[in-house]
Amino acid sequence: MTAGDTFTQSQEAAFFTSIRLRNGTFKTTDHHRLDDLNMLVIGEWRKLDRKPRQIMDVGVSSGVSSLEWADALTRVGIDAEILATDLCMRGSLVRLMPQYEVLLDRDGKVLQHIVGNRPVRWYLDGPRDFFRGTGFVIAALNAFASALLLLTNGRRRGKDVLLVNPHARDDARLSFAEDDILAPNPEHLRGRFNAIRVANLLNHGYFDAAQLCRAVDNLKDRLAGAGSFLIVNRTHPDGTNHGTIFRLSEANKFEIVAKMRDGSEIEDIVLSA
Ligand SMILES: C[S@@+](CC[C@H](N)C(=O)[O-])C[C@H]1O[C@@H](n2cnc3c(N)ncnc32)[C@H](O)[C@@H]1O
Repeated sequence: MTAGDTFTQSQEAAFFTSIRLRNGTFKTTDHHRLDDLNMLVIGEWRKLDRKPRQIMDVGVSSGVSSLEWADALTRVGIDAEILATDLCMRGSLVRLMPQYEVLLDRDGKVLQHIVGNRPVRWYLDGPRDFFRGTGFVIAALNAFASALLLLTNGRRRGKDVLLVNPHARDDARLSFAEDDILAPNPEHLRGRFNAIRVANLLNHGYFDAAQLCRAVDNLKDRLAGAGSFLIVNRTHPDGTNHGTIFRLSEANKFEIVAKMRDGSEIEDIVLSA
């Protein structure tokens, strides 16, 4: 994505919503999606007189919610550095024909077709896609792209693109890194953060219980010990946020500080970590 505001907010949201990774997760995100969660977190930190300095935001997609969090923190005098991470932060943009490009992941798999500047998903959304005719178009594009990539060795001549909002990318309070929350923790991330947020990633719809436990253990290991915070949230299809703010106790167990609406759907997993 280039600087210069060539995207409107809704075009940007459409671009990320139509990207599904091969692990089944989506890159869906949007501006102001987590505003009320930010306010809840800031309110609790003020009550507790805490100003976390080292923050990690996990699975950030475009990073726009990390930028909005940094702005909200700055407004109340919390001067934090946020490390924003995602499993897939880079893609390779390959032009296969005039008016037809594909965005590939690091394994060379299609993340998105781009036909005449419009994003077209690679995955099928059940049988109804075929009733609407979309399924045939998607299946044809997938086959066409595979054949052309094979024939032209297209991966080699792709243009490397950072899948991050340009304002977030250029903000000095944020840094970005690729990271798999299910993989063993890299040494440099262990015991480092005063607060970690994970929004719209650790859901039962995406991962099984064993994977969720592994992810929560990794997050716990990245926190800087007693008094550090973990914030877990899911945005429902109606746009409401349901999250829980946890804090690590002296006994190295999570306890609940506050909830947004119904709280996190993985509260039980976090509390037993
Ligand atoms: C639905 S988006 C959430 C974006 C943002 N946090 C929000 O709430 O708007 C989920 C993000 O998690 C990333 N992701 C998927 N699997 C991951 C993993 N194993 N480790 C880290 N990030 C992952 C995806 O690439 C995607 O950008």
